[in-house]
Amino acid sequence: MPQNTEREQWGTKIGLILAVAGNAVGLGNFLRFPVQAAQNGGGAFMIPYFIFFLILGIPLMWIEWGIGRHGGKYRHGSAPGMFDVIWKHKMAKYFGSLGLFISMVILIYYTYIESWTLGFSIFSVLGLYSGETSETMRTFLSSYQGIGESAHFSSIWPAYFLMLLTFTINFWILFKGISKGIEKLARIAMPLLFLFAIILAIRIVTLGTPDPSVPENSVANGFGFIWNPNFSMLGDPKIWLAAAGQIFFTLSVGMGTIHAYASYLKPDDDIALSGLTTASTNAFAEVILGASIAIPVAVAFFGLDATREIASGGAFNLGFVSMPIIFGSDAFPMGELFGFMWFLLLFFAGITSSVAMGQPVVAFLEDEFGMDRKKAVATLAIVVLVAVQFVVFFLKYGFLDEMDYWAGTFGLVVFALIETILFMWVYGADKAWKEMNAGGDFTIPKVFYYIMKYVTPIILMILLVWWGVQSAIPKLLLRDADPANVPYIWGARILMLAIASGLIYIVKKAWDNKKSEEIG
Ligand code: PHE
Repeated sequence: MPQNTEREQWGTKIGLILAVAGNAVGLGNFLRFPVQAAQNGGGAFMIPYFIFFLILGIPLMWIEWGIGRHGGKYRHGSAPGMFDVIWKHKMAKYFGSLGLFISMVILIYYTYIESWTLGFSIFSVLGLYSGETSETMRTFLSSYQGIGESAHFSSIWPAYFLMLLTFTINFWILFKGISKGIEKLARIAMPLLFLFAIILAIRIVTLGTPDPSVPENSVANGFGFIWNPNFSMLGDPKIWLAAAGQIFFTLSVGMGTIHAYASYLKPDDDIALSGLTTASTNAFAEVILGASIAIPVAVAFFGLDATREIASGGAFNLGFVSMPIIFGSDAFPMGELFGFMWFLLLFFAGITSSVAMGQPVVAFLEDEFGMDRKKAVATLAIVVLVAVQFVVFFLKYGFLDEMDYWAGTFGLVVFALIETILFMWVYGADKAWKEMNAGGDFTIPKVFYYIMKYVTPIILMILLVWWGVQSAIPKLLLRDADPANVPYIWGARILMLAIASGLIYIVKKAWDNKKSEEIG
């Protein structure tokens, strides 16, 4: 069978850094983080956040870059092949298929949400949501999602069309490849994203008190709301779990996407400094920029109590209901423009993440089956487009949430634990350490050797058990599920099982092919 003999490569170092930063910086930074911080002790949340950043986030980042670049040497761009070279066991590749599963399942629903941001940026320019109140904005959003009807949308088709458009753009970029597609996108989208975020943050910081007759509704109080530490909450395990979950999600670790990007490095390219740079860039985008936009402006417009309530309604509420109301109000000068920037910023954040979720499967098909990129991208596109239909049409029945929980939350910890054990224990900590430092622009401080070998896996095990008991088991048994949603939740599970079985099957097939080639 023809093997693609030339593997692709990143064009430039800065392009690679922007691409990996783009992978990490996503909706999680601008929507999920501020809501998590506000709900979990404000400034006090930053304590578990930074602890987990140091003992989970950064170590996993290096581990994944290390596994990825190492796999790339053997022409593997996805976890099955990468695990196969660090653990000479026939099960290794099947553990690796989890890296295909997680990124692919997240891709299926994340891209749909991403398409809302594109839609809302267009609605901003058209002034479609100006003057909405919180009631009408809620119906605006739900009618857009096809859940109800309103004067604005009487069907799901606009959302459907935008979904198709977003998918097309994503697959087009994947089709263009690593340096001409993903890297080029990052070089354009990331600077714009930072520019928009900085402009928005400055605009919001200087808003002061939009309604002088209610002086307590101010941006300053908004910052107070996020950052005033409530240390008494540190005793609550809930905020520790929330912080760990945020670190995983925001850094895109435990999914297989960082590995795929790192596999296109040359063996002597730096990963030590690049891993640290991308993790820090993500933290900056999150803690400085993400925290300075949505929540402070919500407090300035709606006051503390209402914002508390908005935050408890979750990240989507804040992003797609509260923010449009603010940008659509007369008290926000040039709201259409800023609303456009906000949603386009979210779209850029989203798309630089979603292309990363597509790359592992594309790389798998190319590297392990010798498919050309066109065929690999088309294959993934077809499967994803079929699967996304369920997400679009069953949104209100919790279909998306079910996928998000198993793949986007619980699965990450499982995969992270597996890769840490494989790299630091099976492959061996000394070899792994050498691998991560090879070609490094700086030497990783030795303390991380011990953190990666002992602390990270132990913390991951604790998290896994804790999460398992606290949420995975009750979820699995449908303890809190709305009975009306149960059939759909099962539907989501069947879909995920089908995807998982399909992936395991093609992993097996790929290795069977290789074996018969070796013999023949
Ligand atoms: N890190 C991204 C965010 O913060 C999400 C993501 C998930 C990216 C999975 C890649 C893979 O939104």
